[in-house]
Amino acid sequence: MLSKNIEKLLNEQVQLEFESSQFYLAMASWAEAKGLNGVSGFLYGQADEERVHMLKLFHFINERGSHAAVGGSKAPKAKFKNVKEVFEDLLKHELAVTHEINKLVDACLKEKDYTTHNFLQWYVSEQVEEEKQAMTILDKLELLGEDRGGLYLFDRDLASMTAAPAADAANGGK
Ligand code: FEO
Repeated sequence: MLSKNIEKLLNEQVQLEFESSQFYLAMASWAEAKGLNGVSGFLYGQADEERVHMLKLFHFINERGSHAAVGGSKAPKAKFKNVKEVFEDLLKHELAVTHEINKLVDACLKEKDYTTHNFLQWYVSEQVEEEKQAMTILDKLELLGEDRGGLYLFDRDLASMTAAPAADAANGGK
C-alpha cells in the first residue's frame, strides 16, 4: 500500500510524463511541417516513449492498491526558432524531469518505502540515458552547424537513431 504522500507524488510524475509526451509530440509536428523527417521521426518516437513511462507508473500505482489519476494538460509550446532550440528545450525539460525523479526517490527513502524506491531505479537510469542522448544530439548540431547541408546531414543522422517501431508509428504504420 502506498502512503497518501507517495501516491500524490507518483501521480504528479504521471502528469509530468504525460506533459513530456505532449511536448515532444508538438516538437515532432513542428519538425514534420518543416520537412525534417529524420528529426520528426525521432521526436515521435520520444513522445511514444514518454507515454510508456507514464503507463509504467499507472500500472505500478494501481497494483500497489492506489489509483493512478488522469489529468489534463495545457497545450505545450509549438513554435521553435530552429532545430537547436528544439533540442535545447528537450534537454532542459529532461533535466527538470530528473530533478523531480530525484525528489521522489528522496521522499521514498524518508518514508522507508523501499518497494517504490526500487521501482524508481528504472527511471533514475532512464534519465541518465535521456540526458546523455540530448547532449549528444546538441553536440552533433554544434559540429554540423545550421547551414542547409549540415541540417540535411543532421536530419539523416537522427533518422538512423530512431528505433524501428517508433519510425513505423511516425510514418503512420506504413
Ligand atoms: Fe520520461 Fe524523458 O522522461
